[in-house]
Amino acid sequence: MRGRFIVFEGPEGSGKSTQARRLADWLRGGIADVVLTREPGGTALGERIRALLLAHDAYAMLPEAEALLYAAARAQHVGEVVRPALERSAAVVCDRFVDSSIAYQAGGRGLPIEEIVAIQRLAIGDVRPDLRLLLDLPVVEGLRRRFAAGEEINRFDRAETAFHERVRSVYLRLAEAEPGAWVVLDAARPPDEVFRDVIAAIEERLPDLWSVVVAGARPATAGGME
Ligand code: TYD
Repeated sequence: MRGRFIVFEGPEGSGKSTQARRLADWLRGGIADVVLTREPGGTALGERIRALLLAHDAYAMLPEAEALLYAAARAQHVGEVVRPALERSAAVVCDRFVDSSIAYQAGGRGLPIEEIVAIQRLAIGDVRPDLRLLLDLPVVEGLRRRFAAGEEINRFDRAETAFHERVRSVYLRLAEAEPGAWVVLDAARPPDEVFRDVIAAIEERLPDLWSVVVAGARPATAGGME
């Protein structure tokens, strides 16, 4: 696979979606083929699974069923969107991927981590992120932002703080265990500052990005991409 796969991870209210969109816009300044996508979702089937997953109060869902639904959405997403894009040398920016399942379903829900890892293999095959950006911030700050923004509240937003603390600590442990695969950014800062660090991380960790993706030409500066 000749493209590059950049994944944003982080807890609720970390500003991932905004940063992912800004990065995709910035990359489009120099790269013809940039795909911005998200999980769960990114495909017609995936969006339907997303609606099932994020509906609250609609029905009971066991953690095992939840884990398999996330993996099902991911399998469709990888097969239909991510892999074809990487094969045609696109730059793919994705809001959440496998590590969300490890953080939420293993960390948050308490399912055995090796079982969660095992079901990912079927879903993703040999597709791996080239870089994972962890937007880290204290749990209370993330939840405060979420509620203040009046965003739609999903089942996870209603989980207890301890759940979100487990999610955060699993993310931090994953990043610590594999520092070459992750960049951890302090997401409690203003979005412009975080974005500058996102660009710096891309430049440092993926120096060959501009030569491997389609029509690679480095955007002139990291500034002015509001
Ligand atoms: P979303 O509203 O997109 O949350 P956010 O804006 O924080 O990304 O909903 C995605 C939710 O799904 C989020 O709470 C995290 C959760 N999730 C998992 O539990 N496991 C997964 O594998 C993925 C991709 C997401």
